[in-house]
Amino acid sequence: MENSTLNKTLDYIDRIHEILLQRYDIQPKALVRTFGCQQNVSDSEYIKGMLEKMGYDLTDDAGEAELIIYNTCAVREHAEDRAFGNIGALKPYKEKRPELIIAMCGCMVSQPAVAERIKKSYPYVNIAFGTNMLEKFPQMLYEYLRTRKRIVDTSGAHENALVEGLPRRRDNTLRAWLPIMYGCNNFCTYCVVPLVRGRERSRDYRAVVAEAEELVASGAKDITLLGQNVNSYGKGNGDGVFFPDILRMINDIKGDFRIRFMTSHPKDCSDELLRAMSECKKVAGHLHLPLQSGSSRILKAMNRHYTREEYLRLVDKARRLMPDISLTSDIIVGFPGEEYEDFLQTVDIIKRVRFSMLFTFIYSKRGNTPAARMEDRISDEEKSRWFEELLHEQETISDEIMESFKGREVRVLCEGVKPKSGLLYGRADNNMSVTFSGDKSLIGEFVNVKIDDFNHTVLKGGLVN
Ligand code: 5AD
Ligand code: SF4
Repeated sequence: MENSTLNKTLDYIDRIHEILLQRYDIQPKALVRTFGCQQNVSDSEYIKGMLEKMGYDLTDDAGEAELIIYNTCAVREHAEDRAFGNIGALKPYKEKRPELIIAMCGCMVSQPAVAERIKKSYPYVNIAFGTNMLEKFPQMLYEYLRTRKRIVDTSGAHENALVEGLPRRRDNTLRAWLPIMYGCNNFCTYCVVPLVRGRERSRDYRAVVAEAEELVASGAKDITLLGQNVNSYGKGNGDGVFFPDILRMINDIKGDFRIRFMTSHPKDCSDELLRAMSECKKVAGHLHLPLQSGSSRILKAMNRHYTREEYLRLVDKARRLMPDISLTSDIIVGFPGEEYEDFLQTVDIIKRVRFSMLFTFIYSKRGNTPAARMEDRISDEEKSRWFEELLHEQETISDEIMESFKGREVRVLCEGVKPKSGLLYGRADNNMSVTFSGDKSLIGEFVNVKIDDFNHTVLKGGLVN
């Protein structure tokens, strides 16, 4: 079944190739723009791979593109506003060159209300499709090229099919994304992701391990396992292979490389997972563990399935096994019903845990989520004040953590040269950014760097021989 879907997709790619050869004297260009999370970045790599196979050359310049596709995010209203703003800005291009094809896809389009809005208010968007239907893109593009009739299709958003083997063009061969599961079953009350990305589905572990082997063989040195809820990998596959197992299997692949993963849910962060992390040498010493709130009352309203005490115990356990682990987190400020006392509990917990970095968001109301129907009496101004207070607290903590690295040695994957300073840059095993001077022949190598300074979130140091 899956194979026949793949063959059908490849067949449409061939047909488009034929059309493009007939239609264009020089190779047509396509622009892919990505909003949102790494899962979207990964999805866009499939879109780029398919476009290249069709015969498009990829470009960053909208002015020279024959096809523009925006892969959108719906997690917060701001992300949607930006995407609509950017799509709006394409109108003059379309007026100048009516043959330009404009497509939208991703989480935003998976929401029926947004699909309607595209239909009504953005007539120059020719193709729109939701998440989990990348394999249908070639067919839609083929139909559009043939008929010039616009296509808005969000049918696949909740489909269960996982198509293996789609062409993929990786943006970065040194640091690679490896999706292992899709969708989310958690239904946190604020979150639109379960509504747009559908139910959890995990890839077969053999396909995952084979892809990791290929990546290592082709020179990848940093592999990030991706999933909306990555540590619930394997549930429903029925083969007894779960997230800690997949970590161990990839860790066993020969070669010098690093394994990362995101995003983890605290409720699925088992002892077994922490043990696997601590025992697998190649697994990076970093855990991104979204807390969302430090108030048990708010966590309950968020449907997070843990209390502040349980989260703190989890952190203790992780640190007992891995004393140097770097912890990062996501926090939502101003969830409906949150009072200043709840917020202070969040501040208290971030002071206790001392995350090296926080991703902080002001609550954004999302259509059709349970939280959208909850009473929210705190003003935007008040929420902004809390938000600033949290940022301020975290800044002090981050600075102290950065300071504590002075004089220490860290292992860094050298990724490139900073254009302005000419310094080499990369990430330490704990995911912190590091700059240092050295020869560009080191790009792609792991090096040891002794830290002597920092600037905001970037550690600075010198190479250790
Ligand atoms: N409002 C604000 N932040 C949100 N996030 C998810 N949904 C919302 C929302 N409605 C944040 C969470 C999540 C991160 C990816 O985005 O903190 O972990
Ligand atoms: Fe945006 Fe979330 Fe979808 Fe990622 S999964 S693209 S963050 S809405």
